[in-house]
Amino acid sequence: NRSIKIAPSILSADFADFGREIQAIEAQGADWVHVDVMDGHFVPNLTFGPMAVKAFRPHVKTVMDVHLMIAPVDPYIQSYADAGADVLTAHVEAGPHIHRTLQAIQGAGMKAGAALNPGTPAEAVAHLLDMLDLVCVMTVNPGFGGQKFIDMTPKIRALRTMIGDRPIHIQIDGGVDPGTAPKVVQAGADVLVAGSAVFRGGSVADPTVYGDNIRAL
Ligand code: DX5
Ligand code: ZN
Repeated sequence: NRSIKIAPSILSADFADFGREIQAIEAQGADWVHVDVMDGHFVPNLTFGPMAVKAFRPHVKTVMDVHLMIAPVDPYIQSYADAGADVLTAHVEAGPHIHRTLQAIQGAGMKAGAALNPGTPAEAVAHLLDMLDLVCVMTVNPGFGGQKFIDMTPKIRALRTMIGDRPIHIQIDGGVDPGTAPKVVQAGADVLVAGSAVFRGGSVADPTVYGDNIRAL
């Protein structure tokens, strides 16, 4: 495990208890906290917005990794900077000007990520590499936790080659579990998002299950 980071998605946490859920996963070994923002428009589900993300901030001692599944993105970038996001990821499919979006994210002082839906090729980020801190390869169609893993191994390998020695994380999001995690790491991923595979079977009352689940990835 050459410095693989585990980023539990709080989409699978108890929505009435985010503060304690975040504290629990960090105490149990989470490297980053992954926050899935959905708008009911870019994806067919709704989660939370910048006010909620700002309320999560004091509980996150590691890295607050915010994944925007929204369109448009640009009008909300400053609110996520103000909310304290460390990494802000936008989908390349969310609009015609991903280059401008990434510039604005970095200009607001955050690390910039670009996410690729399963149907989008690796080449969509080929001309963005010098302004990216992270590429998120979706291994489900975004919108819901607990979906079946879609194998994107060739895309991950292509990105690993394309990135070369640039300091860009390759993040995998969707269907990551103890069966699929080794495959994506082998292909070149270094940040694993996992929602259901981390939270299943546990609770803030019994958080050691989260730790066991994290170590099983
Ligand atoms: C999917 C989200 C993911 C999701 C992962 O729309 O971006 O972060 O919560 O959930 P699992 O790990 O359950 O597939
Ligand atoms: Zn996500």
